[in-house]
Amino acid sequence: MKKNKNLKVSIVMGSQSDYKTMQLAEKTLKKIGVSFETKIVSAHRTPKRMYDYALKAEKNNIGVIIAGAGGSAHLPGMISALTSLPVLGVPIESKKLKGLDSLLSIAQMPKGIPVGTLAIGEDGAINAALLAASIIANQNTSIKRKLSNWRSSQTKSVKKNPK
Ligand code: RP5
Repeated sequence: MKKNKNLKVSIVMGSQSDYKTMQLAEKTLKKIGVSFETKIVSAHRTPKRMYDYALKAEKNNIGVIIAGAGGSAHLPGMISALTSLPVLGVPIESKKLKGLDSLLSIAQMPKGIPVGTLAIGEDGAINAALLAASIIANQNTSIKRKLSNWRSSQTKSVKKNPK
């Protein structure tokens, strides 16, 4: 792969209904100043779109993929099978099983094709963005600095006293 300092993060999700959660990944990347794109790509409803997206991801200047999916959440694993870019999976909180189905589907990838799995729901979406920013920061000193500033302001915002 060519060295590229301006790689972006790609946020994908299986359905419009996942956006309520995944918009937190967008907000977090925006705060840090990481470029990103957002798309709906479903492994079972738009398999061809998923295939084309994953095969072209590297050429499209993407450095990290964040994939949110719920239920039988095969999207992150299927994308990871089609590209060697790092794929971070966000288990969406499902109605029936509260996201445990999504979590296990994403975390229990058989060896050979990895997906970095985050927490269920909003915490997962935010942490996926922070982790994606850290990966991008490896080749981008400006993002490294912004991420470090973001962490410092988080630390400063924690009061010593609860009252
Ligand atoms: C998955 O099915 C999506 O990731 C979503 O979390 C879940 C339900 O999708 P909708 O029926 O709301 O479109 O593919």
